[in-house]
Amino acid sequence: MSTEIDSLKKEIDKLRAELRDATQHNDSSYYFSNEALQNFNSTSHIPERGMAAKTVKAIIENNHVLDFNQKLNTSSYVNVSFEEEEEAVAMMGLRVNLADQTVYPQSYKMHDTVVNMLAGLWHCPVPGDIDEYGVFPGAGTVGSTEACLLSGLALKFRWRQWYAKRHDLSEEDVRGIRPNMVISSCYQAAWEKLFKYMDIEPKLIHPAAGCFPEDAERVRDAIDENTIGVVCILGNHYGGQYDPVWDVDKVVREVNDAKGYQVGIHVDAASGGFIAPFQEGLPAWDFRLDNVLSISTSGHKYGESCCGTGWVVWRDREDLSEHVAISVTYLGGKADSYTLNFSRPASGVYVQYYKLLRYGMSGYQQCCDNMMSNAKFLRDGLAAMQSEGKPRFVMLDHGDEHCLPVVTAMLNPECNFSYDDIDLQHVLSQHHWYVSGYKMGFNHPLTEETIALFHDADADQTMFRIVVKSNLTRDMAQHLLDSFGEAFAFLDAVDFSKLHDFDSVQLRHKDQRTISNHC
Ligand SMILES: Cc1ncc(COP(=O)(O)O)c(C=O)c1O
Repeated sequence: MSTEIDSLKKEIDKLRAELRDATQHNDSSYYFSNEALQNFNSTSHIPERGMAAKTVKAIIENNHVLDFNQKLNTSSYVNVSFEEEEEAVAMMGLRVNLADQTVYPQSYKMHDTVVNMLAGLWHCPVPGDIDEYGVFPGAGTVGSTEACLLSGLALKFRWRQWYAKRHDLSEEDVRGIRPNMVISSCYQAAWEKLFKYMDIEPKLIHPAAGCFPEDAERVRDAIDENTIGVVCILGNHYGGQYDPVWDVDKVVREVNDAKGYQVGIHVDAASGGFIAPFQEGLPAWDFRLDNVLSISTSGHKYGESCCGTGWVVWRDREDLSEHVAISVTYLGGKADSYTLNFSRPASGVYVQYYKLLRYGMSGYQQCCDNMMSNAKFLRDGLAAMQSEGKPRFVMLDHGDEHCLPVVTAMLNPECNFSYDDIDLQHVLSQHHWYVSGYKMGFNHPLTEETIALFHDADADQTMFRIVVKSNLTRDMAQHLLDSFGEAFAFLDAVDFSKLHDFDSVQLRHKDQRTISNHC
């Protein structure tokens, strides 16, 4: 009897093992397979045996749902609205490697068409060699970071040639001389990569708090013989303000004339490249200004593409983009490759091309108008919020026009709140919104020392921003304002001073310098 029971038990164990195996490799639910008991995130090994497609998808989905909701992420500039067709186009592009220009010439043609469209949007003069190349000097990149790196490199090599000639030195001699670049301290981390990787010294222009744009007169003082170029940001990621390229252009011309330099401007239009062209009354900021040598943008921000994409356009090939070009021949034609990486999927190009055709100028105009209008709605709503008769916020953005659709503010120090903007971020997240608070300080790209963003505000002071994107409708904006109201009901009822290690909240605020939007 007992041997029969034993063999039955064995049989049952075998069947169980078979069932487990079957659930691993067929379409059955992940949730009763033994993988559901494993923590793949904590292991660094490739599993011995593969898993069912549904299982793997479920594992990835389970990670994904733990992220914040993209559509309620007002912290990032990345576009999050898709059309079905756009997704299909992106999938189509995934299988095409853009490096194979010979195999995929038509895909590359779409790339070139986008470069030409952007050159036109930014008023780039038609280069003399357009017939030879069929395209303006420019490139599609992974994002603005790669585009900024390429622009910075072109300026560096251009400067080297100029410096060698000016001092009758060999290029080898000039390699030992450290170049610099003039840029606002409100730069995005993309530039930190240029300074670190390419050994370029940043000459930082620190704006006054509440007056973010680069001061052209301070740019004048910063330029010297080793300056490869001046960066103008359109607009900065903190508050969406535009650096006054038009003023910087004048200053650069005057310095060049007076000192015999050939300094030029790169416009980092990561976000503004698809916004500024649709804003009436803005002074010329693009290739209409003679000293603007290159412009970069991100397709995945206000270019409305859903895939990570960047674009750079140069004014000329000669003594500019040629410095970073690798010549490739394909189908008997001539082409330049600029990107840091050869291989990459065509999805970014396909989707950008899709978006440009799908929206047209009128679509981008409408999108820009809607976002600016929703930003105003939010700005007005926040500005009206009060605590004991005082405004709850000091507004720090540029206002309703000639800037990005961004609302930036800080809690009003005069209200003596025991919480800061980061606490506000956390409480708002309970209402599903991601509104990021951050400090008015950053690490120096080379020394790593913490320095203040503004020349007249503490690096520890906090603020927050709301990036308005095309998916944010008026209803959603109203919900966000209501969430602020509910968040304050909670924050006001709790004493956060211990959390911040304040002896007394008053003491902290006494030392705080007054910041106002005086720009
Ligand atoms: C002004 C500016 N430059 C560069 C970048 C980097 O862009 P990407 O993430 O496309 O590389 C950003 C991103 O926010 C930005 O705001």
